[in-house]
Amino acid sequence: MKCIEIRGQRLVMAERPVPKLKAGEVLVKVHAAGVNRPDILQRKGLYPPPPGASDIPGLEIAGEIVKGAGKGKKVIALVAGGGYAEYCAVPAKQCLPLPKGMDFITAAGIPETYFTVWTNLFDRGGLKKGETVLIHGGASGIGTTAIQIARAFGAKVIVTAGTDKKCRACKKLGAQTTINYRTKDFVVETLRVTKNAGVDVVLDMVGGDYLPRNLMVLKAGGRHVSIAMQHGRVAELDIFQVMSKRLILTGSTLRPRSVADKAAIAQALHKAVWPLLGKGRLGPVVDRVFPLAEAQAAHEYLESAAHVGKVILQAI
Ligand SMILES: NC(=O)c1ccc[n+]([C@@H]2O[C@H](COP(=O)([O-])OP(=O)(O)OC[C@H]3O[C@@H](n4cnc5c(N)ncnc54)[C@H](OP(=O)(O)O)[C@@H]3O)[C@@H](O)[C@H]2O)c1
Repeated sequence: MKCIEIRGQRLVMAERPVPKLKAGEVLVKVHAAGVNRPDILQRKGLYPPPPGASDIPGLEIAGEIVKGAGKGKKVIALVAGGGYAEYCAVPAKQCLPLPKGMDFITAAGIPETYFTVWTNLFDRGGLKKGETVLIHGGASGIGTTAIQIARAFGAKVIVTAGTDKKCRACKKLGAQTTINYRTKDFVVETLRVTKNAGVDVVLDMVGGDYLPRNLMVLKAGGRHVSIAMQHGRVAELDIFQVMSKRLILTGSTLRPRSVADKAAIAQALHKAVWPLLGKGRLGPVVDRVFPLAEAQAAHEYLESAAHVGKVILQAI
């Protein structure tokens, strides 16, 4: 099969045997694969695949099962690697049906962000109807999904983004308040729009110096959920703020979690989110599509941060 390999921190087209299936896996003919920031970290040698996972990049796919249980079914799947390829072996429990009326390219943008957002906003962050969430990076793949899901489940949404254009896009997706963090201080703005009440949950992909500032905008009983650390993995924080406001600091990484954990998230998504997909309320925002052979250009585009939503690779 044709696939993308990482050579010297660049993505190149290569030929490999079609993957052999392990117990519980199915073979998917990939029609489209999503590009995620963790793929860029992997290409740069900063995010190695977990033990047993394919070293071919790609964490999410949409396609058709061609071998194993459910042969012939159109699916999307969360994978621990191997998505940038013609064929991908996937634990059957990490497959979900292609949402009704959705094409493969759009659907390929679902798994990584929906699994991540669901488990971090709700399982870890305990976000409830009527609460307010601050989402950093609102125009990212993760951010655009988080806005839609949080709104669909009755939360109020404040986001940060790096340009006015991105802020407008986030508003269209349902964010009630958008803050261009390059021109406004998000702490001041968040406290202003919440009349000093603050927010219940912060979904943070920035880390570093953002952490102490995030704590300032959390109300008593607030939850801080870390999913990335673009400003660094070390933060200095005021322990008394955590104590006095009874804050909870949590976070997670999706890729190394067990098949059982991922299957549980898949089931929760299928029950709560699938009925809403494709009905105009929820669905990936596809910014740009590249052919698989141009995976390197797709990475460079994502790195430029010019996008709003998802970048997708169209398979052969
Ligand atoms: N923990 C997990 O399980 C998990 C899973 C998937 C992804 N992630 C992480 O989640 C993040 C988003 O992933 P993605 O694939 O959606 O990537 P992406 O679309 O490339 O998003 C990265 C975003 O970060 C924003 N950003 C950078 N500095 C910022 C700042 N100071 N304040 C606010 N926003 C800022 C950029 O937008 P601006 O132009 O607005 O700055 C960009 O939209 C990545 O860091 C990724 O590693 C974590």
